[in-house]
Amino acid sequence: MAQVFDRSSNALARMSLVLAGLIVIAVGVTLNELQRSPWVTRQGQRPDQPVPFSHKHHVEGLGLQCQYCHQQVEKAAYSGVPPTKTCINCHSQIWTNANLLEPVRQSWATGASIQWIRVHDLPDYVYFNHSIHVNKGLGCASCHGRVDQMPIMYMQNTLQMEWCLNCHRNPAANLRPTTEIYNMAWQGPSTEKPVWCADIPNSYGRPTAQQVSCTTKNPGNSNPELASLQMQTPEQSGLSAAHSGTMGSPHSNQGQEKTVSDLPPANGIVMPVNYKKFTTQLDLGRYLTKQYHIRGANEISSCETCHR
Ligand code: HEC
Ligand code: HEC
Ligand code: HEC
Ligand code: HEC
Ligand code: HEC
Repeated sequence: MAQVFDRSSNALARMSLVLAGLIVIAVGVTLNELQRSPWVTRQGQRPDQPVPFSHKHHVEGLGLQCQYCHQQVEKAAYSGVPPTKTCINCHSQIWTNANLLEPVRQSWATGASIQWIRVHDLPDYVYFNHSIHVNKGLGCASCHGRVDQMPIMYMQNTLQMEWCLNCHRNPAANLRPTTEIYNMAWQGPSTEKPVWCADIPNSYGRPTAQQVSCTTKNPGNSNPELASLQMQTPEQSGLSAAHSGTMGSPHSNQGQEKTVSDLPPANGIVMPVNYKKFTTQLDLGRYLTKQYHIRGANEISSCETCHR
């Protein structure tokens, strides 16, 4: 029988198989890259909002605290965006005729809320909860970046599973004192800028994260009790704006779990406190992991944690 294929076609067949294989791999890699590209994750994109609201102007410029507008962030799964009333508190007097603010006035007049376009939006099959993160010492900036420097809001991180897991596998790297969660510029302790922390004795009834008191000023040995107590006043923890805001205290809800801002002023109570000094994030992170009762990496990285 005559040979239909000569020897060279054998080599050809082998080569095309290899080629096909390479193409499959290339497509796979491209798709994978695409999956992670900012184009798919929308990382860094600034959608056209109905009003070009600037966090930079309102936070850095005017010194407004996050909770003035995002009142639920310590209490609820969703932190939410503020109602038009919050803007009107000021903009009934400031910039009252600016064209930019027309949608705000419109919304206030008609009662229809402003249609903000969501910047962060996890798929429905993922469970996420702000309050647990915030109350266990994770700062807004760890997940959202330097919001105080954003003229227009954008997403700093991908919010993909890998990003969540990266922290869940080693939360110690990101834990900070709960008094610092709104501090956009927090950098963690160093030899030049140590942090001192102490367990608060008799702190029964406080949320776990508040059974520890931290300070960036050397409490010294002269009067450690006083240093500790001052840490707990709202002024010290930078939470005064939320309390003195024209909208009334956002924390007056009864029957809810206590959170970072709910500390009673501890005036007059004297407690003996022993401060430990921390000069690295690793040491502070380990200490806080224990104090905040953070579960093991395996447990918080298991599928059921986020997919329920
Ligand atoms: C004066 C009110 C105000 C203050 C203060 C404020 N925000 Fe906002 N924030 C808004 C409004 C309005 C939006 C929705 C429009 C937008 O995305 O820019 C928003 C959106 C956001 C979003 C994105 C929401 C989404 O769609 O995914 C994040 C994250 C956020 N704010 C974080 C912060 C942080 C962190 C602080 C404190 C450093 C802060 N905000 C302070 C009003 C405020
Ligand atoms: C505490 C008072 C206060 C609140 C609350 C407030 N604003 Fe403003 N806003 C100001 C002031 C003051 C300026 C002028 C800032 C400047 O020009 O530096 C301003 C400026 C603006 C501007 C003009 C552009 C800019 O950023 O300079 C827009 C748009 C705006 N605000 C939207 C909003 C919206 C939307 C809300 C509600 C989510 C809001 N503001 C809440 C005080 C406030
Ligand atoms: C552990 C990471 C993490 C921390 C810490 C964090 N956020 Fe978020 N934030 C997210 C994620 C993830 C979303 C998207 C949630 C969704 O789509 O359901 C989000 C969404 C938001 C939104 C949009 C509304 C909402 O609730 O979906 C606002 C506003 C916001 N965050 C503000 C804040 C503020 C203010 C702080 C600090 C007090 C903070 N976040 C701390 C991860 C974080
Ligand atoms: C910067 C660190 C960090 C990032 C980023 C982060 N987490 Fe967490 N997460 C934590 C810590 C710390 C805890 C608290 C664990 C504990 O208390 O045992 C936690 C707890 C949780 C819990 C448990 C809540 C409960 O009630 O048991 C869920 C669910 C969760 N995170 C989802 C997510 C998702 C989804 C993302 C990504 C969109 C994410 N986290 C990103 C640090 C992080
Ligand atoms: C810390 C939270 C967290 C944990 C733990 C987690 N996931 Fe996810 N998962 C996410 C988030 C967030 C997304 C959404 C990713 C996106 O939007 O691109 C996701 C998406 C997915 C998807 C959709 C496909 C994809 O990759 O986008 C699958 C499938 C999935 N997860 C399976 C798992 C399995 C299996 C486990 C356990 C081994 C697990 N996840 C553990 C947060 C988590």
